[in-house]
Amino acid sequence: MAQLPDQEDSSKPNLFSPYKLGRFNLSHRIVLAPCTRCRALNGIPQPAMAEYYSQRATRGGFLITEGTMVDPTSAGFPHVPGIFTAEQVEAWKKVVDSVHAKGAVFFCQLWHVGRASHEVYQPAGCAPVSSTDKAISKRWRILMTDGSYGIYPEPRALGTDDIAKIVDFYRVAAVNAMKAGFDGVEIHGAHGYLIDQFLKDGINDRVDEYGGPLRNRCKFMTQVVRAVADAVGPDRLGVRISPAIDHLDATDSDPLGLGLAVVERLNELQSDAGAKLAYLHVTQPRYVAYGQTEAGRSGSEEEEALLMRRLRDAYRGTFICSGGYTRRLGNKAVARGEADLVSYGRLFIANPDLVLRFKLGAPLNMYDRKTFYTQDPVVGYTDYPFISNQYISRL
Ligand SMILES: Cc1cc2nc3c(=O)[nH]c(=O)nc-3n(C[C@H](O)[C@H](O)[C@H](O)COP(=O)(O)O)c2cc1C
Repeated sequence: MAQLPDQEDSSKPNLFSPYKLGRFNLSHRIVLAPCTRCRALNGIPQPAMAEYYSQRATRGGFLITEGTMVDPTSAGFPHVPGIFTAEQVEAWKKVVDSVHAKGAVFFCQLWHVGRASHEVYQPAGCAPVSSTDKAISKRWRILMTDGSYGIYPEPRALGTDDIAKIVDFYRVAAVNAMKAGFDGVEIHGAHGYLIDQFLKDGINDRVDEYGGPLRNRCKFMTQVVRAVADAVGPDRLGVRISPAIDHLDATDSDPLGLGLAVVERLNELQSDAGAKLAYLHVTQPRYVAYGQTEAGRSGSEEEEALLMRRLRDAYRGTFICSGGYTRRLGNKAVARGEADLVSYGRLFIANPDLVLRFKLGAPLNMYDRKTFYTQDPVVGYTDYPFISNQYISRL
């Protein structure tokens, strides 16, 4: 007999309750979190990516792509996909079609890493750009093209005028995502990358209108979100933040205050547009450095729960939580109203049929960290086993 998802109270929703995500009807609440996998050779999505995403797609499921470059200065990992050339858009179409063929909803995550890059990833070997000219400390290492780890170089602080150009790259990338057939885009404002480099006072040391008080530090993100919302419609746009995560030195003296300020901007934007954004996606700090380690936390369980609760209560729209969720914790979060949807990263990497496994309460494959960022189109990518028919027939 198949086990029912564990839940606190059967009258409450769980991971398998349907959900209306704006214009999209989801049949369950288990989301594929954006996960960089470095299989887009020279920035071009490959056939293996169509297979990888379609393996994880279910009817009425919701998938978000890996971080996708908005312009040639956006990359800080080898072989991440882009969405700024016609060739990239054409290649994405095949990936999107394979996911749509399974009946899932698919958003493209728009990413600029800012200073979390290296000259080798930059056009003409230039310095990476950021809100600041301070480098990421040696506590963190950058994955180089040959698989070794290097030191983050000093970035170039963007001039006030350069910023408008970057905002426009996001807008064009979002339009391109629509051309490729995506249902929407997610703005990556988390994990110490470019937008977070503007948001956090541990990094942003600007003295222009993009630095200093909270409202100024939120300005770049707000401009990006407004430009993209105007271009593709607010309901085709989600925003991801991680106010309490210090990945890549992205510290803030008041993570809750920062998170609430971002939420206030998004609520304002929704009122101005007279329409809701698709969602707010928040990574919680119990999940820390996904690049190099499993370890680390920056606060007690109660502090983290309080931060998530306050953001969830303040945001007027769909709330997705991410970071260290299991089947049990996901069901609990949905049942308690702590989130509408739950995104899964590492468990989904290792379990292409995670949704079925959760439904059945079946055992999970363990992920292999060594192949997270390698380029093999099969090993550690599309070869994680599906649950066997023998297992299912024994139920
Ligand atoms: C290999 C790997 C790559 C990731 N790449 C991205 C990314 O491109 N964009 C992003 O927003 N988060 C990225 N993340 C973070 C995940 O989206 C997710 O929030 C994180 O893994 C925590 O969820 P989990 O505990 O379910 O793995 C990545 C995580 C992993 C493990």
